[in-house]
Amino acid sequence: MPVIAVVGAQWGDEGKGKVVDTLAAHADVVVRYNGGNNAGHTIQNEHGTFALHLLPSGIFHPAAQCVIGPGVVVNPDVLLAEAEAVERVGMPTVGRLWLDERAHLIFPHHILMDELEEAARGGAPHGTTKQGIWPVYSDKAARVGIRLGDLFEEAHLAEQLRFIAARKSALFRGVYRHEALEFPSLLATVGRWAERLRPYVTDTHPLIQAALRADRTILLEGQLGVMRDLDWGLYPYVTSSTTLPGGASSGAGIPPYRITRVLGIAKAYTTAVGAGPMPTELDDETGARIRELGAEYGATTRRPRRCGWFDGVAARFAAEVAGFTQLAVMKLDIFDTFETIKIAVAYRLCGRTIQSVPHTAAMARVEPVYEELAGWLAPTQRARRLTDLPVEARVFLRRIEEIVDVPIAMIGVGPGRSDVIFTQEGFP
Ligand code: GDP
Ligand code: IMO
Ligand code: MG
Repeated sequence: MPVIAVVGAQWGDEGKGKVVDTLAAHADVVVRYNGGNNAGHTIQNEHGTFALHLLPSGIFHPAAQCVIGPGVVVNPDVLLAEAEAVERVGMPTVGRLWLDERAHLIFPHHILMDELEEAARGGAPHGTTKQGIWPVYSDKAARVGIRLGDLFEEAHLAEQLRFIAARKSALFRGVYRHEALEFPSLLATVGRWAERLRPYVTDTHPLIQAALRADRTILLEGQLGVMRDLDWGLYPYVTSSTTLPGGASSGAGIPPYRITRVLGIAKAYTTAVGAGPMPTELDDETGARIRELGAEYGATTRRPRRCGWFDGVAARFAAEVAGFTQLAVMKLDIFDTFETIKIAVAYRLCGRTIQSVPHTAAMARVEPVYEELAGWLAPTQRARRLTDLPVEARVFLRRIEEIVDVPIAMIGVGPGRSDVIFTQEGFP
């Protein structure tokens, strides 16, 4: 049975939540492998509409075990609120939601640091989600982080927190001119978390290994997309985790060779939130039209998303780096009323035509080279087979397939769980 990594192919918000919610009907285990509650994975199903920040998007399938892997960073308050929200609609979490004891904890001071550093950038912030993502991953790399498993090692935890309170207080007072971190308040916070998280925290290694041994279907749910990967994205306009399937392997505890499919998720156009280059961005009426029709407002911060045409250069680069075996193209329906649609097939840089993603500073100067295609001017939301789609829509998808050089296995034609076309025999 397959192990499928679901990986964002663009700048995030490609529709990963919907894809995982749809595919999880066939999954035994769903694992979030990177990032934290900077994610906003929107799901629309019979239980309602949810923007999940931490819970794996398989949570609405009671037969699926849901795992937060060691590569994730956890804000317990967000996680517990989310668990309560899904319990309220009748989905059990205790006994099927598992948080790996190796995952790191996001503290209020991480969030504060994120806010203070963004403020310090004045008029040129990076536009982070201000959820404490880089501070917690920095602490992890500096080996001063607190992991979920530490919550239940009281003496060890107190010692770590005393050190953190002293070091961070020096930073807060000296650099940020902010009040100190109080050790008793840190201790009270972790005490509250420990009690409420106890039913969920475990070593997830045996569960994952058992699933692999029994040849179960496993979905690995990524956060964000390749263009914001820490190594391969447009640094420094990136996040602090690995969005690639390599991150799925280490962040979930699955050997790379056990991942049988890498499903890249893209939208029929491009969106981004936060700063940094986005060559196909449309700062005009067309961009605004995509934003309104696609409801392109951040699921986490409600910021209007920057919108533009499908960037074939960036998507092909993502496919190469991440090794997509298949592609899902979401939100095809948003173009139902467009007379013409463009796809970027190359960039112009200093008088030359290039077909790769250059260094970030150069990426800010590239001019996209577009190919224009005819729109289909017909509704697609009810289509369930490729042949239900107008011929112009199929031509558009075929061009994406050629440019990205990956077969399309899934097409999104609406926000709901069943608004999807599967194009390959045997998939899912
Ligand atoms: P994620 O972060 O990758 O899970 O994506 P988001 O949830 O942040 O953003 C995707 C948005 O598009 C959500 O509002 C989804 O409900 C919506 N969506 C996903 N697929 C489709 C689709 O095929 N058609 C339409 N109209 N909406 C979709
Ligand atoms: P999902 O999983 C879109 C963006 C932020 C900022 C940059 C770094 O829903 O696709 P961070 O808070 O991670 O330090 O911010 O990355 N960003 C996202 N953009 N979707 C997301 O998640 C994002 N998570 C972070 O806007 O530009
Ligand atoms: Mg999102």
